[in-house]
Amino acid sequence: MDYMLAEKKIRDIVSKGDGSRILAGVVDFLYENFDKYSWVGIYIVEGNDLLLGPWKGEQATEHTRIPIGRGICGSAAETGKTEIIADVSQDERYLSCFISTQSEIVVPIKKNDTVIGEIDIDSDIPNAFDKGDVVFLEKIADEISVFIS
Ligand code: SME
Repeated sequence: MDYMLAEKKIRDIVSKGDGSRILAGVVDFLYENFDKYSWVGIYIVEGNDLLLGPWKGEQATEHTRIPIGRGICGSAAETGKTEIIADVSQDERYLSCFISTQSEIVVPIKKNDTVIGEIDIDSDIPNAFDKGDVVFLEKIADEISVFIS
C-alpha cells in the first residue's frame, strides 16, 4: 500500500476507533498492509523503561521491558531521534528478538518534545527502511501520541 493511502486509513482508525483499541488497531494495520514490516510493536515509556504495549508478528519478543539507553529502542528513546538500522548484525547496540530480523526502524512518539513511547518495526529484509518510512511513521507517531498517557 502506498504511504498516502495508509496515512488516510490510519487517520480513519484514529478518528473512528474506540480509545482503548486505537494503538492495537494501528499496529495491526501496519503489520497487515506492509509486507516488509515483519514485526510491529509499540513501546510505552514508564519511568526509566520502555514497556511493550500492542504488537503484531509471528512471534512474541522476550524484550518486553527495555531500559532507556539500551538497545536500538532505548537509544531512540534517549535521543528522541528515529533510528534506522540497515543491518542489525552490524550494530553493537542491537538486542536480538528474532533470528529472522535483518533491519529495524524505531520512531519515537513524543508529546511536547518529550518521548512517551515509540513504534518499533523489524524487517526480515535487509535495508528495508528509507526516508519514505521515516516521514510516514513520524506522522503516525504524531497521530497516536494523544492516546498514550
Ligand atoms: N531490537 C530492539 C529490541 C526490540 S525487538 O526488535 C522487538 C532493540 O535493539 O532495542
